[in-house]
Amino acid sequence: MKNIKKRSWAEPYKMKMVELLKMTTKPQRIKAIKDAGYNTFLLPSEDVYIDLLTDSGTNSMSDRQWGVFMTGDEAYAGSKSYYILEEAIKKYYGYKYVVPTHQGRAAENILSQILIKKGDIVPGNMYFTTTRLHQELAGGTFVDVIIDEAHDPLNEHPFKGNIDIGKLDKLVKKHGAKKIPYVCLATNVNMAGGQPVSMANLKELRAYTKKHGIRIIHDMTRVAENAYFIQQREKGYDKKSIREIVKEICSYTDGATMSAKKDALVNIGGFMAINDWDVFEEARNLVVVYEGLHTYGGLAGRDMEAIAVGIAESLDDNHQRARVGQVEYLGQKMIEYNIPIVKPIGGHGIFVDAKAFLPHLTQDQFPAQTLAAELYIDSGVRTMERGIVSAGRKPNGENYYPKLELVRFTIPRRVYTQAHMDVIAESAAAVYDKRKSIKGLKMVYEPKYLRFFQARFQKL
Ligand code: F0G
Repeated sequence: MKNIKKRSWAEPYKMKMVELLKMTTKPQRIKAIKDAGYNTFLLPSEDVYIDLLTDSGTNSMSDRQWGVFMTGDEAYAGSKSYYILEEAIKKYYGYKYVVPTHQGRAAENILSQILIKKGDIVPGNMYFTTTRLHQELAGGTFVDVIIDEAHDPLNEHPFKGNIDIGKLDKLVKKHGAKKIPYVCLATNVNMAGGQPVSMANLKELRAYTKKHGIRIIHDMTRVAENAYFIQQREKGYDKKSIREIVKEICSYTDGATMSAKKDALVNIGGFMAINDWDVFEEARNLVVVYEGLHTYGGLAGRDMEAIAVGIAESLDDNHQRARVGQVEYLGQKMIEYNIPIVKPIGGHGIFVDAKAFLPHLTQDQFPAQTLAAELYIDSGVRTMERGIVSAGRKPNGENYYPKLELVRFTIPRRVYTQAHMDVIAESAAAVYDKRKSIKGLKMVYEPKYLRFFQARFQKL
């Protein structure tokens, strides 16, 4: 036993119920992906073996969360479950006022409509698809102010989610602070590969924005995973709990949008939180238009209560260690098989560099979309494109050409086993072995908004 330096990341739970999966053959999968227009979003999930499309809403709830499904209060107004959710958000995150929404993008819609005026500039640490679209629909222009390292898949900066304060300062000097309603700060930046923001960077950002009277709005979808990385990597935080670190992160921001479908371990739900009474009042006005009364915001009472329990569970150190540990395990396997992945290994999944995997394809031949389809054909593992298709078009109609052309292997929380991780890595290795024979795709149908969800392709 002397040689074992690091203990395993085993899960702090056991299984009480399982969901049976359909096993498919390769000819069945070739047909299924063709019928789906080579878009993994359009595959029937029944035909999927291991579903790594997203970590959103795909979590396993705990026995305690299922328990409150029976005790949730389904009153239209003043549901007891709303007050339980509000209490949890105040206690664990520290935000003052809460508006529940059916998921994250609904909170983004409401917040963008309230805070953004036509012609405003919204800086952020890398775009997220729905977040940027709501900023644009409200009349704003998103500007990426993440550090350059985030756009380089091989750069091993420990906090690739950090904001480049110099880039932000240039924007403020160019447009004036009045044109900048807030900085959109995402924790554990999704599109960068699940990369964290450091506490030092956040403190610096807080000091800077305070000086210029600019709000920080926190996309806290994966805040607990970010806190885990701070605990592991940042000086002075190794003795602090995830719970303490999360509260500190939130304390440097003025409000938040949350997709509870990720870190908060539920299948549906979200909220907007804010410390400013005026913004809260407006949000309460708008939520009744789009979502439902301000004490349920499109959610059932049981959903709100399951979020409250999920928030507490997500802040448990043992949970996060197993959660990120499992992702790390898969990433290490991929590295062993020489598969080009984004480094450091992120919090919610493995991001394969499709440009490096399929260097013979141009970005217009959709390398990441192609690779996701090939992986599905090989093993029934469903992944997601995060490259040129996801990036979409600018308001003037031109394509965005993102530097990162990635395939995301997103790991749902508390769902798959270590043996599943082995199968995934082996399948990626099998596709890697035959990479030179893989041909690209052309797009034959393109929806107007968020095209990656419904676009269709054909083999070249
Ligand atoms: N912000 C981030 C960082 C996200 O990752 C998501 C969703 C949202 C906001 C929107 O939340 O889906 O509840 O409306 N991300 C999912 C994903 C869809 O697969 O990455 P939502």
